[in-house]
Amino acid sequence: MKLNLLNKRVLCLMLAYSTIGLGFSNQSFAQVAKTFIVKTDKSIAKVESNMWGVFFEDINFGADGGIYAELIKNRSFEFIKPLMGWSIHRNRQKEGEVLVVNRKEVNEANPRYLQVQRQTDDFELINEGFKGIGVKKGLRYDFSMMYRQPIPGVKMVLLLKAANNKVIAQTTLTPLQTGNNWQKQSASITATETDPKAKFSIIFQGKGNIDLDMISLFPEDTWKNRPQGLRADMVQMLADMKPGFIRFPGGCIVEGTDLANRYQWKNTIGPIESRKMLMNRWNVEFAHRPAPDYYQSFGLGFFEYFQLAEDIGSDALPILNCGMACQFNTGEVAALDELDPYVQDALDLIEFANGDINTKWGKKRAELGHPKPFNLKMLGIGNENWGPQYLERLAIFTKAIKAKYPEIKLINSSGTGPEGDRFELLNTALRTANADFIDEHYYKPADWFLKNAGRYDSYPRNESKVFVGEYAVHADSKIIGSNRNNWESALAAAALMTGLERNADIVQMASYAPLFAHVDAWQWAPDMIWVDNLKVYGTPDYYVQKLFSTNKGTDVVSITNDAKNIIGQDGLYASAVTDKTTNELIIKIANTANQTQTIDLALDGKKKIKSKGFIDELENSNLNQLNSFDAPQAVGPKRIDISLKGKKLNLVLKPYSFNVIRIPFNS
Ligand code: AHR
Repeated sequence: MKLNLLNKRVLCLMLAYSTIGLGFSNQSFAQVAKTFIVKTDKSIAKVESNMWGVFFEDINFGADGGIYAELIKNRSFEFIKPLMGWSIHRNRQKEGEVLVVNRKEVNEANPRYLQVQRQTDDFELINEGFKGIGVKKGLRYDFSMMYRQPIPGVKMVLLLKAANNKVIAQTTLTPLQTGNNWQKQSASITATETDPKAKFSIIFQGKGNIDLDMISLFPEDTWKNRPQGLRADMVQMLADMKPGFIRFPGGCIVEGTDLANRYQWKNTIGPIESRKMLMNRWNVEFAHRPAPDYYQSFGLGFFEYFQLAEDIGSDALPILNCGMACQFNTGEVAALDELDPYVQDALDLIEFANGDINTKWGKKRAELGHPKPFNLKMLGIGNENWGPQYLERLAIFTKAIKAKYPEIKLINSSGTGPEGDRFELLNTALRTANADFIDEHYYKPADWFLKNAGRYDSYPRNESKVFVGEYAVHADSKIIGSNRNNWESALAAAALMTGLERNADIVQMASYAPLFAHVDAWQWAPDMIWVDNLKVYGTPDYYVQKLFSTNKGTDVVSITNDAKNIIGQDGLYASAVTDKTTNELIIKIANTANQTQTIDLALDGKKKIKSKGFIDELENSNLNQLNSFDAPQAVGPKRIDISLKGKKLNLVLKPYSFNVIRIPFNS
């Protein structure tokens, strides 16, 4: 049967583009249609249902000041400067009126609190929020605090003030007499105006002393309306991607600059006032992007990560410290004969996620409100660790975990990059040891991505699987601002991802990194999703990632030109899958050339085709094109309906375009 795809809209929109080449070559070809043959009936590999995931790390104010919706910075006075983020306003401050008290001996996790000794005049305590407080008109804001007041007498006026100091929300609170016991008290205020840079203020009136801690303010509109939860707009961006997994909590965060500052999941669960805060390692990492006010409150802790993964239908992929601190910083390692607590943390985490409620850690999970297991299937041991010292420690972890939980797949590090001595040493050793997954990371220029779209075609088929756990196009090796999430970087990633998909039997998982960045508080660029205090937008990379994860299919099928995989011929990159659940063929083609290309698509197989399909197209003639809050979809998907007849389709691909073609099978 003969099939013709005629897409008049595509033809009408065809333009003669002229662009600068950047990392892409300025090729010029004869306008001869190429034939791409798709073997629709023969599955050459299975696509894992969790293949395309996301990488979450508290970098760029991704968690505190980002997805964790707490609006008060330094709520428990544990920053290195205890009053950072706070300021005291009054005409004449009296000595000793406000004290930061340390009770380390009795409360190691949350030692400091604020003692306010009132005598007469009113005074005001103001919190600046994380680069301001984003406030929306008509929305309720929920205040809470821990306090004690042996003798009553203090009255508190709670205010939200716009950047220009206009009061935009107000209520009063009269704390009760509590003796020496700490209590929690709450109140709500509703904003009368929207302001992205508001501040929160407490005016103290009356006489008496009061001790304060955990001063907190959350918007009511959190994800799933959970009290003290996550920012709904940011979670929604993730949910819309339908990611197969969430890798958390990083990244270098896992390693810590030294072992004392490593990420320890047990410190991140339970009552938030008992979660011991840590300085965020990105606080001091880049001298040129200092972030002195960047700390980890762990309000988004391991329970919340598992819950988030469950909410959006993703597998949880925690990465744990392997007894090694960041090798770019101290490189401190735990002695081999002192590794037990680290290994025990891993075993306990599996029990926390999956254990019966009668086990120690399964019981804790149930007490936190989730008696059902989280169904953890995989665990990363170490982030970007390398060298023989990593292999030694990994072997100890692997033996202990596999002995108790043979079903848990382990993710192993291959170091910091996809080639060179570090990579070779680990890649060879891990393959010899038959590792479940080898975690490859690449932050490379666009050209590298294009050249490596065939990287996995020659990988051994029956050895360890690959997890491309972090990748992004970096125009240069600096991560401090010259890199942008422009269309060039996203299109090059799309080209490479066709190679990952073609090799889905080996590359079973992949995640772009990092995920989030706050426009006023980032340390590392590029990043997939950018936010300010009220808004969020996806970069071109976001749309590429989303197109892959929402079109993942179930089976890879071959797509060739002249019997060869399509890896850069005339700047074209392609892969194809079928989806056995929806009964569709899904073809992905990146056109990295700066000219229109015409493709005759020949579908070779017994399956019949329906007459209607569509293309989701991302394109821009300007490789430097960015998205922004004002133009969030300057590069965004456009859906183009297509009509089909028979089994031949004529496709016209715009210059610099990524195209996902979905064709339903007939029964
Ligand atoms: O994604 C940002 C950082 O890049 C991660 O923390 C680290 O693993 C890598 O070096």
